[in-house]
Amino acid sequence: MADDVFELNRRAWNGRVERRNPWTLPISSEEVEKARKGDWQIVLTPTRPVPRKWFPDLGGTSVLCLASGGGQQGPILAAAGARVTVFDASLKQLEQDRMVAERDGLELETVEGDMADLGVFEDGTFDLIVHPISNCFVPDLSPVWAECARVLRVGGELLAGFNNPLRYLFPYDLDQDTYDLRVGQAIPYCDLESLTGDEKARFEESGEPFEFSHTLEDQIAGQIEAGLVLVGFFEDRFSPDSDELSRYIPSFIATRARKERS
Ligand SMILES: C[S@@+](CC[C@H](N)C(=O)[O-])C[C@H]1O[C@@H](n2cnc3c(N)ncnc32)[C@H](O)[C@@H]1O
Repeated sequence: MADDVFELNRRAWNGRVERRNPWTLPISSEEVEKARKGDWQIVLTPTRPVPRKWFPDLGGTSVLCLASGGGQQGPILAAAGARVTVFDASLKQLEQDRMVAERDGLELETVEGDMADLGVFEDGTFDLIVHPISNCFVPDLSPVWAECARVLRVGGELLAGFNNPLRYLFPYDLDQDTYDLRVGQAIPYCDLESLTGDEKARFEESGEPFEFSHTLEDQIAGQIEAGLVLVGFFEDRFSPDSDELSRYIPSFIATRARKERS
């Protein structure tokens, strides 16, 4: 199933680029220019900037932007002085990063692949991994955390955003593009297995990517089991006008984890 999911979701994200989904829209030249002067921020979750104290001095720092295509985090960090590699399943998302790099004269590498297999990178390649919300698109988190721990150098850090699984308690209405805030789905939830035949067919037709809720144990204990030590945590929400659940509770999480030993 994992290969099918990878292909389906890669195509879905290519389609989202065509449809100008917000997570596929690249930053402007003005934002690049400001980042060059030290005025920058990035998100791992919908709206709340990652605290600047979570970042090392970026000058010459080797950063992997994992499942982070779209011309956002990668170009900002490159303009701020980091040596950036953007890794993503979607070629169209990576094209957004390359477009910004060429437009604004940034050095930036792009690599296409599955976040569950970072075999193209040697052990200990990166000082920092920036991993915005995207692990909802893979069925199993343990290879993702294991690969992150492997490609980080000792002392390196993983900054990751992910969904609180409680979001998946509420069925998504494709027609209305809203959630029904009555509990209707069990956790762990997966579009591929939890939807009925008809619902699944409609979902596939929509061209949207398939998602997996995961559990907080998979998200948090999973990082610890991979050998990382959690040193930072915050929660986030959308603006309540654009996401009903965000009126009631922050349902996105960001963690900062350090590789303290090999
Ligand atoms: C919500 S977007 C995150 C990127 C965006 N720059 C941001 O600001 O958050 C999720 C990304 O995950 C990528 N993705 C989905 N499944 C993936 C996989 N198995 N391996 C690598 N990337 C994947 C998608 O192509 C998409 O670019």
